[in-house]
Amino acid sequence: MSRNCNMALEYHMPIEFHLGHQEIDRQHDVIYSLYNYFIGCNKTDREHNKCHETLSSISKYVIVHCNYEEELMKNIVYSKRDDHIIEHLQLIEITRIFQDRIDKDPDNNELIASYGEFFIDWFQHHVCITDRELINSLRQL
Ligand SMILES: [Fe+2]
Ligand SMILES: [Fe+2]
Repeated sequence: MSRNCNMALEYHMPIEFHLGHQEIDRQHDVIYSLYNYFIGCNKTDREHNKCHETLSSISKYVIVHCNYEEELMKNIVYSKRDDHIIEHLQLIEITRIFQDRIDKDPDNNELIASYGEFFIDWFQHHVCITDRELINSLRQL
């Protein structure tokens, strides 16, 4: 059965990614939904414009989200700030590189799958370990 690209943001983040911070959880849910929409569009509908727009939305929204967390870090004692920011920069930069490559080669499913694998590995590690540590530090205020 074909997945309908008009169903953006239906793919809610699984409960194991919820960290108990309302705004961060909401933003992670948006990122996760966009990622799933992007992967689903590519596999089924082959609508390159929608794939392009969705990857562009991921790219922009990830920056908004990283900036939000980095603002929170300024108000607390948080020894892992630099390492956390490096992980953010890695996601932003690799997303930008894939965006360029996919724009030039939109029919390349392996490229899109590679980005998907990178993204979900990054998301799982970063949310479950790195962001969880940040939220634990925020709770100690
Ligand atoms: Fe983060
Ligand atoms: Fe985050």
